[in-house]
Amino acid sequence: MSQSIKSVQPIKLADYQAPGYTTLRTDLNFDIQDGTTTVINTMHLVRQSSDADSIRFDGENIELVRVSVDGRVLSGNQYQQDDVSLRVFGLDAAHDIEIITRIKPEENTALAGLYKSSHMYCTQCEAEGFRTITYFQDRPDVLAKFSTTITADAHRFPTLLSNGNLVSTQILEGGRKSVTWEDPFPKPSYLFALVAGNLDMIEDTFTTMSGREVTLQIFSEAHNINQCGYAMDVLKRSMAWDEARFGREYDLDIFMIVAVEDFNMGAMENKGLNIFNTSCVLASPDTATDAAYQRVEAVVAHEYFHNWSGNRVTCRDWFQLSLKEGFTVFRDAEFSSDMNSRAVKRIEDVSFLRSVQFAEDAGPLAHAVRPQSYLEISNFYTTTIYEKGAEVVRMYQTILGNSKFRAACDLYFSRHDGSAVTTDDFAAVMAEVGELDLSQFKLWYEQAGTPHLQITEHFDDGELMLEIQQSCPATPQQEDKQAFHMPVALGLLDAQGESLSLYDLMVDAPAGTQLTDQGSTLVVSLREAQCTIKISHCEEKPIVSFLRGFSAPVKVSYPRPDSELSFLAKHDQDGFVRWDALCSLWVKYFEGVKLEHVDLVQTITDLASQALSMEGNVDAQLLAAQMLVVPDENYLFEQLAHFEVDALLDAREVVLNKLAQQDIWRPLYDKYRTAGEYSPNAQGMADRALANIAFAYEARRLDGSALVDFVTSHYRGADNLTDRRAALNVICRHPAYDREAGEKLMGDFFDKWRNEALVIDLWFSLQAQSPRTTVNEMQRLEALPQFDQNNPNRARSLYSVFGMLNHRRFHAMDGSGYSYLADAIGQIDPKNPQLAARLATPLSRWQRYDSSRQELMRERLHRLSQLPDLSKDLFEIVSKSLGNL
Ligand code: BES
Ligand code: ZN
Repeated sequence: MSQSIKSVQPIKLADYQAPGYTTLRTDLNFDIQDGTTTVINTMHLVRQSSDADSIRFDGENIELVRVSVDGRVLSGNQYQQDDVSLRVFGLDAAHDIEIITRIKPEENTALAGLYKSSHMYCTQCEAEGFRTITYFQDRPDVLAKFSTTITADAHRFPTLLSNGNLVSTQILEGGRKSVTWEDPFPKPSYLFALVAGNLDMIEDTFTTMSGREVTLQIFSEAHNINQCGYAMDVLKRSMAWDEARFGREYDLDIFMIVAVEDFNMGAMENKGLNIFNTSCVLASPDTATDAAYQRVEAVVAHEYFHNWSGNRVTCRDWFQLSLKEGFTVFRDAEFSSDMNSRAVKRIEDVSFLRSVQFAEDAGPLAHAVRPQSYLEISNFYTTTIYEKGAEVVRMYQTILGNSKFRAACDLYFSRHDGSAVTTDDFAAVMAEVGELDLSQFKLWYEQAGTPHLQITEHFDDGELMLEIQQSCPATPQQEDKQAFHMPVALGLLDAQGESLSLYDLMVDAPAGTQLTDQGSTLVVSLREAQCTIKISHCEEKPIVSFLRGFSAPVKVSYPRPDSELSFLAKHDQDGFVRWDALCSLWVKYFEGVKLEHVDLVQTITDLASQALSMEGNVDAQLLAAQMLVVPDENYLFEQLAHFEVDALLDAREVVLNKLAQQDIWRPLYDKYRTAGEYSPNAQGMADRALANIAFAYEARRLDGSALVDFVTSHYRGADNLTDRRAALNVICRHPAYDREAGEKLMGDFFDKWRNEALVIDLWFSLQAQSPRTTVNEMQRLEALPQFDQNNPNRARSLYSVFGMLNHRRFHAMDGSGYSYLADAIGQIDPKNPQLAARLATPLSRWQRYDSSRQELMRERLHRLSQLPDLSKDLFEIVSKSLGNL
């Protein structure tokens, strides 16, 4: 598994070369036996470039048994083999090559390639897992037709699945069974999948827009099958939505999802056979919070949408990863917006972008949406590729307008169907249909770093002048940046809070600027480093609602009176701007600026009173729920210019306690606490969101038996995990909560749900994120028999949660929190490098903390870098974090 660091050479986009041969077809035969699986891989290859006479197959950690070309077994001097490849020489225009290999899935703890999870075999091939199954051209620009035959013990592995359609089943001698699947669509090897297990299944059908009936199946181990219904419902909604919104119809006659317990990522879009982490597919009221239901909704949709954005049209090379991931995140975000509240989905996404992606972009691991080089591609499944990539797609839509954007997507899908393309190809259809020059826009793919807009406002004699200056900070290996082309959406409010119609005013703005929202929003086409927008004939000074819908992924400095921000928070038509204005006030507050004419506690209290009469207005309720919470620590860490961790945490506690003293929370709680039966729909979630926010504030002002009674009654009265979680969260965190009473309830909960892995993950994670949980406590949790470092979900429920959310203890001034995480990473790396590398993220953010903490964090990173047999994955992350690569 581990690599010698000396052998590690970066892969560069500039070195891309089309393959000399391509594999048109592969027939795979898996013979699954205990301990060893034998793979016979028969490929049909054809020459692509006239001077090619040899071929290189990728292959790692596999035992080569035999290579034959056109039926002749090769001897050792007719091919060359090393740790990562196999070369065959002296080739002509076309050949059939058969390669027999043996692998050991039972020993595969990295969870890439073919591995075992509980009692089943499953695969994860993206990005480069297929090369641990057999020798192959394991690169996304080689598209082959696959057939897969699987032979295994019929009794233990009755469920044998692969991509495409089932074409034959045979019962063999010796209690074995063999099935063959045939996938009619050419695909890259990263979309290959295989499952062998004893699984239960639920089935449904979907009739496509052209009238074809598609069989839908979800598989899981028997004990989870009753939690698959929600995913099935989401799948059908996703299929209908992709037809209605993007005109995309499903292509095969069957679509399968398999839930597995051990999975590095959330889920994987293998053609016709998606494989899911149980955490992204299982849901029931007792085992999934509302957030978990929403995650299932987003992930099922996301993987389904990949069938077009990723599978039918795929990536030429891994530098183009955002072509499929950014686009598909955009598509799943649009789906979730249509299913729930558009404004709140936008707020959630921007909040995540600002706390996580902006942090990445400002740190040592900053990279472009289309990077120039990498050591280990698994490390590039980042928030920049995903979330910033989705923002780039969103900007195309804003620039082109919805109908042209849709037409450009149609052209993209039809022009590139069945091929492997680049982000330039995507930009080209946008430019063509939009009749635009997007060459400057493409800087979004090349330049890392979050652009910054500085706004200056003047009002004089009925004329509003807005000056916008853009800049972008230096990032590793990119000192100087050019100006971006971006859409900046803005509107104007009158003194009553009504949006002014811009049709009635005179607007002087750069070429390409457009009006939308019935004339209430101006979409400025910003291209220069500096630009001025003039709006004349205003009757009075309007209030500018800036960056509506967060139209570009930028930071904004806009010096303005606090009263304007609080006005926007109350009145703007754009939910995002309302929330954003309030956040700006919070940021000022935590920077220690005394707010003028604005009392934040009063603002929140007023909002809470308004929320009392929002019953039934889902969007209003969900927006209020967003605005009633104080921005979280990670958000503030990213937004504040200067802070000291403990002082900021203290300040946040102080204001939360002040807010809790208001008399509004009990009435709000009583108003929205569970009425009627649980439903995971938007209305139910909106009610629970408000009730649980009120619950948490109310609990803050209680202590002694009043506190225990209040929390216990919320817990006992709950018919769902969202409410139970709210109660347990108070128990874990409240400084005054009676220890014994708390432990008893946590213990009851644990005993009751000990057989539900995802609930136990939650139980671990609630403790790992509590400031009351010290490193010693963490070690006690780790020592429990239910803790399992090898299961990614369980490992993350302690380690990631501790590093990302337990700021008090992770950032302890004695360095104990950093050491604790670093030690865990060091233990996991030899077993699962992808997981280890991801767990290192909190340490990579060292730059944003004070100098003592910086030194401690760097010291732990340095120690990790010295480990013998460090994986390539972790090597790249720690080296780059330290500025050594
Ligand atoms: N293609 C990825 C899964 C993947 C990523 C597999 C990296 C192997 C390596 C999949 O489509 C994906 O993006 N999944 C996300 C969830 C999604 C909703 C953004 C994930 O797994 O977190
Ligand atoms: Zn994806």
